[in-house]
Amino acid sequence: MRYARTRTGDMFLSSTAVLMSEVVKLGTCLVLVYLEEGNFKLFVNSLHNTIIKQPMDTLKVCVPSFVYLMQNNLLYVSASHLDAATYQVSYQLKILTTAMFAVLILRRSLRFIQWVSLLFLLAGVVLVQLAHTDSPSSVNNIEQNRLIGFGAALTACFLSGFAGIYFEKILKGSNISVWMRNVQLSLLSIPFGIFTSFLYDWNKIQDHGFFFGYDVFIWYLIVLQAGGGLLVAVVVKYADNILKGFATSLAIVISCVVSIYLFSFQLTFQFAVGAALVICSIFMYSYDPKPKVPDHTLKV
Ligand code: C5P
Repeated sequence: MRYARTRTGDMFLSSTAVLMSEVVKLGTCLVLVYLEEGNFKLFVNSLHNTIIKQPMDTLKVCVPSFVYLMQNNLLYVSASHLDAATYQVSYQLKILTTAMFAVLILRRSLRFIQWVSLLFLLAGVVLVQLAHTDSPSSVNNIEQNRLIGFGAALTACFLSGFAGIYFEKILKGSNISVWMRNVQLSLLSIPFGIFTSFLYDWNKIQDHGFFFGYDVFIWYLIVLQAGGGLLVAVVVKYADNILKGFATSLAIVISCVVSIYLFSFQLTFQFAVGAALVICSIFMYSYDPKPKVPDHTLKV
């Protein structure tokens, strides 16, 4: 994202990229629902029964679809103003906002050690990421405003936490498949996306066209965003949003370790401490002290 927003040449409109990502997700999820159903008639019936016949249920999905669309737009704003490492570090604050919303909305209770492990995780990612700060990429005449970048990332953290937990609640509170839920999500995001593209970029779209600045790299970015979004859906279905935070943090550590070999990245003390904190936090979070066996069962 950072490279796409700072490279030379015609600059694409990020609002259109967010919208196209939703279109790619919708197409993919329709194919997956079709495969789940097995034939075209069942597929159409299933879409009709879930989306048209249950308007209130579809409306429930309106909330995360709108919030995710805002979040995805804000992430482009943030990546345009912050270097890649700072952007990723700031965005990891979503680990805490997600836990906060899990407690508020899902009434999930975390043990003290789990809260401490989340703080360790956050500290670990920050250390790892800051140890990995290369020379920032060239900015190519694009005005950089770190305050706007931070503000956008911070708002995206709250939106991510809220939308993730809200979506988890509706996904796990019914037996509608995750792919069907994502069809609903994208179907609603697309009109929101059209509205925001026109709202922010109407003049540019009129002057240069919707796909201005698109090339293979931008399409690659769109597909990457869409694939990442669908992976998030699967993670939330089979695990939960807090565990997703651990998975992505571990991925950051692994990618840094791999870059030691691929790009001769120097392993620093700071990186090692950060990685250790991340790994340690995973054990702390999943450590479940065995419930005490009540006395009377012992006697029996
Ligand atoms: O960073 P975070 O984990 O909040 O990322 C959420 C991303 O996943 C957003 O881009 C959102 O559009 C996408 N997503 C999705 N389908 C879901 C849940 C999230 O496409 N069911």
